[in-house]
Amino acid sequence: MTGNELRKKFLQFFASKNHLVLPSYSLIPEDDPTLLMIGAGMAPFKPFFTGKMKPPQPRIATSQKCVRTGDIENVGRTARHHTFFEMLGNFSFGDYFKKEAIAWAWEFVTEHLGLPEDKLWITIHTKDDEAFEIWHKDIGLPADRIIRMEDNFWEIGPGPCGPCSELYIDLGEDRGCGKPDCAVGCNCDRYLEIWNLVFTQFDRDEAGNYTPLAKKNIDTGAGLERIASVLQNKRSNFETDLLFPIIERTCRVAGVAYGQSEKTDVSLKVIADHARSLTVMIADGILPSNEGRGYVLRRVLRRAVR
Ligand code: ALA
Repeated sequence: MTGNELRKKFLQFFASKNHLVLPSYSLIPEDDPTLLMIGAGMAPFKPFFTGKMKPPQPRIATSQKCVRTGDIENVGRTARHHTFFEMLGNFSFGDYFKKEAIAWAWEFVTEHLGLPEDKLWITIHTKDDEAFEIWHKDIGLPADRIIRMEDNFWEIGPGPCGPCSELYIDLGEDRGCGKPDCAVGCNCDRYLEIWNLVFTQFDRDEAGNYTPLAKKNIDTGAGLERIASVLQNKRSNFETDLLFPIIERTCRVAGVAYGQSEKTDVSLKVIADHARSLTVMIADGILPSNEGRGYVLRRVLRRAVR
């Protein structure tokens, strides 16, 4: 399945569950001084979650262009980190909640993508007994594959946030670090987080207070490039059809080969990742400058050149 087919399949699946499919928003946030760039599918929808604005429909799905530079040092060194990626997401604004979000995520990955059920692991927030019951009783997942984690709470600066539940796939021992305590949550590439389901029920203010929202919401994010790597049986996102053509082109331009040396491969991956970021940033109207978004662009460009 190509990356394009996967994106389409996701959006069609959620259209069949009565979601309005919208195109990706620009990377430049509208009326949101708390964000430099859109870094999550939910970011353009903050006013819908808080109730400040009414959404066109209570259910929306998108494939959102995202830039996140927090993991920039990991880019090219792991199979899965990027500065630019696409986040597949389904959103409920005061409509459905945990039960449906969990059931549909499971239906999509097992029935529509054909991922093996026995390789899928789930994390939930330590205190989220409700999510545990749904995964265990409704979905039928064995209790020992549902891991409680204290930091399963998702937020991006001030705004809507809440406890979350993540889907991981075990890619097998040979993809891991081999440490005896390697498990879900390990930094290595064995257990790959493919989808995060956020049960958005609080609004965090600048001072760090969490106020319960009048209505409960759903915000999910699945990594297009990560799932493509699983479906295409590639050892990293960089070898999927979404990124590899850039590596091949760079190899031709630079007169180097991929897969010959670790150092060159890291460089090729960094260039591929950064080239995508730069292209999409510029396409959305960001230009190099000494401050704000333009400075992020300049830094990424310099790093790619270096
Ligand atoms: N907003 C959630 C995330 O970015 C889905 O992981």
